[in-house]
Amino acid sequence: VRPDALKRSLEGVHVAISAGGTREALDPVRFIGNRSSGKQGYALARVAAQRGARVTLVAGNTADLATPAGVDLVRVGSAVELRDAMHKVAADADVVVMAAAVADFRPVSLTGHKIKKTGGDPDPIALTKNPDILVELVSARRTGQLIVGFAAETGDETTSVLDYGRAKLRRKGCDLLVLNAVGDGKAFEQEDNAGWLLSPDGSETPIPHGPKTQVASAVWDAVTARLTESQ
Ligand code: CTP
Ligand code: CA
Repeated sequence: VRPDALKRSLEGVHVAISAGGTREALDPVRFIGNRSSGKQGYALARVAAQRGARVTLVAGNTADLATPAGVDLVRVGSAVELRDAMHKVAADADVVVMAAAVADFRPVSLTGHKIKKTGGDPDPIALTKNPDILVELVSARRTGQLIVGFAAETGDETTSVLDYGRAKLRRKGCDLLVLNAVGDGKAFEQEDNAGWLLSPDGSETPIPHGPKTQVASAVWDAVTARLTESQ
């Protein structure tokens, strides 16, 4: 075993990872969803398992992805289901990674029957906020537990991608934020990703543009370094 492989080992570490997009039901056949493929979360699970971790992957809707070898898979639909599953799994996890694309809002009411188009113009869809799972996990954090969040930002006229990322890291209170620059075909449904790893001590490590497996490796390198520090 090479010394750097030992240094990066996740042997004996239980990691909980969320991946994919949530689906918020409108009626028995319709939902509000998003374009998340789940590829980044699955790559994180695969690399963690390869490094010896016990991995629980909580997956919402994803592209047709193979479950990585040795990974326990839990399937969820809505944000509320994802929240319940993550709280359960996080209670026993050393590291928690929220890579899922959680719907910010869900329909206020779920119609038990299919909504029909008869009767003139449709009613607007009333929405309510979903719980912020990452914030909840941070407040329920066990001693020594490391929590990683994700952010996909575009930046705009007034605020850069990095500034949005810094503000999000503060707001969420997590130990690491994986910040991705999106837009112009970046990140979503793509094989490649680019961004930074932000931490509350102010460190901002660029993640070189590359496959999502490489991003996953960068995340686990940073996590391992922090786990070793805190021991
Ligand atoms: N997240 C979460 N629960 C939510 C929304 C987001 O746990 N209801 C998590 C995501 O999994 C991700 C991080 O929070 O790890 C950032 O998600 P993002 O959508 O960028 O943050 P929001 O707080 O929803 O802010 P925005 O208005 O930019 O969407
Ligand atoms: Ca959001």
